[in-house]
Amino acid sequence: GKGTYPYYMAKEIDEQPAVMRKIIQNYQNEQGELEMDPEILDSILASDRIYIVACGTSYNAGWVGKQLLEKTTNIPTEVHLSSEFGYNMPLLTEKPFFIFLSQSGETADSRQVLVQVNEMGYPSLTLTNVPGSTLSREAQFTLLLYAGPEIAVASTKAYTAQIAVMSILAELTAKAKGLPVEMDVAHELAIVASAIESVIDDKEIFEQLSLTHLSTSRNAFYIGRGIDYYLVMEASLKLKEVSYVQTEGFAAGELKHGTIALIEDNTPVISIITDKKTAGHTRGNAHEVISRGAHSMIISMDGLNQPEDAYVLPKVHELLTPLVSVIPTQLIAYYTSLHRGNDVDKPRNLAKSVTVE
Ligand code: F6R
Repeated sequence: GKGTYPYYMAKEIDEQPAVMRKIIQNYQNEQGELEMDPEILDSILASDRIYIVACGTSYNAGWVGKQLLEKTTNIPTEVHLSSEFGYNMPLLTEKPFFIFLSQSGETADSRQVLVQVNEMGYPSLTLTNVPGSTLSREAQFTLLLYAGPEIAVASTKAYTAQIAVMSILAELTAKAKGLPVEMDVAHELAIVASAIESVIDDKEIFEQLSLTHLSTSRNAFYIGRGIDYYLVMEASLKLKEVSYVQTEGFAAGELKHGTIALIEDNTPVISIITDKKTAGHTRGNAHEVISRGAHSMIISMDGLNQPEDAYVLPKVHELLTPLVSVIPTQLIAYYTSLHRGNDVDKPRNLAKSVTVE
């Protein structure tokens, strides 16, 4: 049940530190080392390219997974929407390996791709929260998310769980390949769990921000670059689906190529800055929208912060920042929906699992 929470979404956001810890535990052996079915790793190592296929929030998690897999394992990784891939299949490499991301394991758009992949005889892995689900049964391999049942239609803890499990998959693949390890994932995920906790402790800040700037706004934009661009795709999906505020996530550098025409007086623009390579440029883009009248809110990571920022995130490993930067955006979506009087857990027109193509 929801316990003392008014909505499952609020409960599921709060569960994320525990989910991170549970994932570490479930992927550790008795010696405390991360471990998974070596056949999965062998199959990935035998491939020349990874294709991640998913929908919605799982698709957005896929982009973070691409970054993790490429940076850690050096295996080229593509991310595709199931509903596009199945009907407009790109030219595949000789030895593709498919990863299906699906919280429910029942999404019809993703399943139709898996059916084709099986017909072609390519190896596949499903990351899902639901053991025994269709995508889990029909793929060659399965890794579980251990996030516990996700009841709210808007996915929160499955997103962070998917990224955490992909970080473990990436590290173990790199190790199996004999590459130097990019990070001690179990240790870094434990730091992430505490960082998420401290952001959740500040939830009133995001409620206030929603009340002041989003509860009556017609539209809103998120901007970021690199890993923060991948994150703002998810931030904007979450906000639009539960609040019904017209929201888009943009690559900050693309603003000046057209999008900036949408900025009016008081248009809320939230910038996410967690990557030091692009921090200066994204901050510059935030200033460009301020000079067009936007209401700018910058969420930055400790070490990259400036006095103008609305919130400073605790620092975590640079490949894992979305696990922490997503939390304010989930809370902003939740509170905006709540204060607009929407049914937070059951947004209009949406179903928890989409079983038609
Ligand atoms: C968004 C949301 C949907 C799902 C999408 C895929 O909050 O919940 O976008 O992420 O329908 O669902 P799964 O992961 O079950 O395949």
